[in-house]
Amino acid sequence: MLQIRHITKSFPSVRALDDVSVDFAPGEVHAIVGENGAGKSTLNKIICGIYTPDAGEVRLDGATIHLHAYKDALDRKINLVSQEIQVIPKSTVAENIMLDKLDRYLAGGRIDWRRINADAARYAEMVDLTAPVTQPVAVLSAAQKQLIMIARALSSDARILIMDEPTSALTRHETDNLLQLLRRIKGEGVTVIFVSHKLEEVLAVADRVSVLRDGSLIGTQPIARLTKEQIVQMMIGRDARTLGLGALTVDAGPPVLEARGISQTGRFHNVSFALHRGEILGFYGLVGSGRTELAQILIGEDRKDGGEVYIEGKRANIQSMADSLFKYRMGYVSENRKEKGLILSAPIQTNIAITVWERLRDRFGSIRLAAETATARDFMQKLEIRATDPGQTVGSLSGGNQQKVSIAKWLAAHCDILIIDEPTIGVDIGAKEYIHQLIWNLAKVEGKSIILISSDMPEIVNLARRILVFKDFAIVGEVRNNGENGAPVRGYDEVSKEIGQYLA
Ligand SMILES: Nc1ncnc2c1ncn2[C@@H]1O[C@H](COP(=O)(O)OP(=O)(O)OP(=O)(O)O)[C@@H](O)[C@H]1O
Ligand SMILES: [Mg+2]
Repeated sequence: MLQIRHITKSFPSVRALDDVSVDFAPGEVHAIVGENGAGKSTLNKIICGIYTPDAGEVRLDGATIHLHAYKDALDRKINLVSQEIQVIPKSTVAENIMLDKLDRYLAGGRIDWRRINADAARYAEMVDLTAPVTQPVAVLSAAQKQLIMIARALSSDARILIMDEPTSALTRHETDNLLQLLRRIKGEGVTVIFVSHKLEEVLAVADRVSVLRDGSLIGTQPIARLTKEQIVQMMIGRDARTLGLGALTVDAGPPVLEARGISQTGRFHNVSFALHRGEILGFYGLVGSGRTELAQILIGEDRKDGGEVYIEGKRANIQSMADSLFKYRMGYVSENRKEKGLILSAPIQTNIAITVWERLRDRFGSIRLAAETATARDFMQKLEIRATDPGQTVGSLSGGNQQKVSIAKWLAAHCDILIIDEPTIGVDIGAKEYIHQLIWNLAKVEGKSIILISSDMPEIVNLARRILVFKDFAIVGEVRNNGENGAPVRGYDEVSKEIGQYLA
C-alpha cells in the first residue's frame, strides 16, 4: 500500500505541488488527471525518487520511505514509464526492453543473447510491438519506442507501475491492447498509477481518479461516481466548450499542393492527392500506415523514388526542410516534440523564433532580440503557455506546454501550407479546444491550406472536411464531411463509421 502525505514541491518559479495526500491501493488502477502544468509528472517523479519533496512523506506498507534516486524506487519495485521517450537509440529493441535486467543473463562471464532476445520478444508481443527485437531502436517510430518503454516496465514485475501518458503516441488499437494489459496486471495485485489527458481511457480503465489543479488536490473519487463532464469540471473549474464547427468554404481553383504518383521503393506506390486553399485535409490511419512518412517526403526530409510534387501549379524541388519552408512556405509541425521539434535546453523565445530567424534578421545579420521576445510573448499569451517569461528553457516546462511552444514555432513562421502532425497529443482539454479553434481559423479566416495528421477520431472528424484514409502506405479511401451546397456537415457517427469501413 502506497501513501503520499502532505507533499509540497516548489521550483524556482512555481509551486508544483501544494500539500497533496493520496492513498493508492494494491490491485487498483488509479488515474491522475489535470491540466498541463497541474503537477502530475512532478508527483510521479517524487514517488519514484527522481525529485525529493520539500515537505511531506511517501509511505510504503505503513513506513516512511526515503528515495534519493530512481534506482531506490526500482529496488522497491516501483517502476515508471516516463512521459518523455527514453530509449538508447543505438541499442537493439531487446537490449532496450531488458535494459535494467541484463545482469540476470550473465552466466560464466558471458551474456546469453539468445535468451535475452527470446524473453524480450515475449514482452514485445504483449504490447503488440511488431519490430524485430534485434533491430536498433534508432530507426523506429515514436509509437514503437513508447511500446518499448512499456514492455521494459512490464518485464520488471513491478508492484507499483506508474504510467505517465503512456498512450500519447499510440493508436486506438495499441491503446486498447494496453488498457487490456493494465486490467490484467491489476488483477495480479499491482498498483497502476495512470496519467492521461484522454478521459475516455481514464473512464475505461481506472478504478479511482485523483484530480490536480494548480498543484492542489481537488479530490479523489471512485470512477463509477463521476461522469466525464464532472471530471473536466474538477480539472478546469468550469464546463468544457464544444466547438460545433460548420462547413468550410474551399477554394474551387487549382490545388495549392498536388502530389502526383509519389513512390518510394518498398513503401509508397503511386500515391496522389490534392490540397486546396482554405482546406483542412485529414490524414487518418494507424501509426505506421504512412501518414507521417508521406509528410516527410513532402517537406524534403525523406527522398522519393518517383512522382512529383506541384505547388501553386509548378513543379517543386524540395530537398530539405529549409527548401520547404523558405522556398515554398510549407511548414511541418512535428508529431514528436522530444525528438525533432524543440531544443529543450534553449529558451522559449529562441525555439519560437527558429523558423522566423530569416525574417527577424536585421541588415547587420544579427537577430533582433527585442523582436524575438515580443513574438514569443505574443504566442505565450495566445496559446496560454504557462511559463514565467520567454527566457525560461523549454526543458523546464510541463509536457503539454512544450507542445504549445512547438505549435507556436510554426505559427510564427507564417506558412501558407501547414502539415500538422498529431497537434494535441499531451495537451489538456482547455488547450485542445484552443488549438482546434486555432487550426480552424487558420483555414477559414486566413485561407491557409492544412494537412492534419491525427489518430484522434473526434479531432479529425471535427476539423477535417475531407479525410484520406491510410493503410499500408496507400490511400485506401476518401471520406467527405463538408456540407456541400449549404447542406449541414455530416454527423460524427456517420463519418467515423465510414472511415472505419476503409480500415477493416
Ligand atoms: N525541473 C523543473 N524546473 C522548473 N520548473 C518545473 C520543473 N519541472 C516541472 N516544473 C514546473 O512545475 C509545474 C508542474 O509541472 P508538471 O510537469 O508536474 O505538470 P504536468 O501536470 O505533468 O503537466 P503536463 O500535462 O503538461 O505533462 C509546471 O509549472 C512546470 O513548469
Ligand atoms: Mg506531465
